[in-house]
Amino acid sequence: MPTGSASAVVGLHWGDEGKGKVCDLLAREHEVVVRYNGGANAGNSVVVNGERFALHLVPTGVLNPGTLLVIGNGVVVDPGKLLEEIEGLESRGVRTDRLVVSDRAHVVLPHHKAEDELREAYLRDRLVGAEPGLHATGSPRVGQIGTTKRGIGPCYADKVQRAMAVRVGDLLRPDALRAKIEASCGFRSILFRELRPEGVPEPQAKDIIDTALAWGEQLRHRITDTTYLLHDRMAAGDRVLFTGANATLLDVDHGTYPFVTSSSCSALGIGVGTGVPTTRIGRVLGVAKAYCTRVGAGPFPTELVNELGDRIRERGREYGTTTGRPRRCGWLDMVATRYAAMVNGATGIAVTMLDVLSGMGELKVCVGYRLANGEVSSRFVPDAGELERVEPVWETMDGWDEDLSAVRTVDELPGAARAYLAKIAACAGVPVELVSVGPDRSQTIECRIG
Ligand code: IMP
Repeated sequence: MPTGSASAVVGLHWGDEGKGKVCDLLAREHEVVVRYNGGANAGNSVVVNGERFALHLVPTGVLNPGTLLVIGNGVVVDPGKLLEEIEGLESRGVRTDRLVVSDRAHVVLPHHKAEDELREAYLRDRLVGAEPGLHATGSPRVGQIGTTKRGIGPCYADKVQRAMAVRVGDLLRPDALRAKIEASCGFRSILFRELRPEGVPEPQAKDIIDTALAWGEQLRHRITDTTYLLHDRMAAGDRVLFTGANATLLDVDHGTYPFVTSSSCSALGIGVGTGVPTTRIGRVLGVAKAYCTRVGAGPFPTELVNELGDRIRERGREYGTTTGRPRRCGWLDMVATRYAAMVNGATGIAVTMLDVLSGMGELKVCVGYRLANGEVSSRFVPDAGELERVEPVWETMDGWDEDLSAVRTVDELPGAARAYLAKIAACAGVPVELVSVGPDRSQTIECRIG
């Protein structure tokens, strides 16, 4: 395979941009689909012929028969959830026999989920009577992240701590597995005894070992060295699609730290999360909603805490796929979008949920940030506390009233919607290549704007 002929799909905001649908569309042009980061915290919805599939760990290409599906080493796998998802798909007639898991991926164990709960409860208790996160008053606080409680942070922390971490390959090595689980449960029992969390039972090593051994047997035929597998398949000419979970502004290095997830969600994570160097990737499609949303705590400069925000939430059905939590909604932040496109090396943008903005009246986009010192900047801000305090600089654009759900070409779009897309391309500095006007595969406009 020549250098640069693989593709990637990444979220440009705080997740839930509609990557699932975009991946599903692109997967049809690729023989291999690879997930490179995150865990069961992510949720992808794909609608095919009116039937909705919610995927958390299985890569989205599963709905295309024949596609090789790879869960890369950068993913943290909750085997119980993975097996549940496989069973759910099989029961609806979707075959999963071409799904493999990296032996280097890490395993989320029950004590990771318990610790996730425990940490969030600890942080909540420190903030009784106060809002989570950082405050506009300027005083930084240590607050809850608002995690999905799927054990993601504690599992990645174990990975970096090394000695007691369990990799998927260890599920097939009973002696090593026992030793690691006993050690990590023993270590955590100190925390549990000290904190005595209400409603979070102390994880028991023996039960976890038995469960993990059973998972190993059920997954045995799927566990492999995916690094060589991917290089072999690329050498044989297969086209590979890398799909990121979560999104750029939740990236542990490049997002709104500390209000982020614990993995490298941007395209920069592909190399570490798969063993395939990013120089092999020719196309990076950044997915952005036509407005912004965020779940959990953390800065969100364009948030609308008003009736307009509620309208976007209801029209866009903005409730989490994984946790069902209502999402915070706001206008499109072009400063953040441009930054994310830059960090990912996006070659194009897919704009999703454009139909949701119909009938909203005038639209606003944020084209700059007014900083605490009064200066206006078009650059994203690395510190969450400072980002919390920026004032958006708005540009107002004409809205449109027409229902877009049946539109299939750029020419059928109202002029104001075309102008809105052109604005996104101009601000982000890369063309809009795809527009989604509804959840179904068919509700898609292929284009090149900008
Ligand atoms: P964690 O990944 O469960 O540790 O959660 C960390 C932060 O990332 C929280 O604010 C979550 O709401 C957010 N988060 C994690 N995954 C997703 C996602 O797929 N979509 C939206 N938010 C997410």
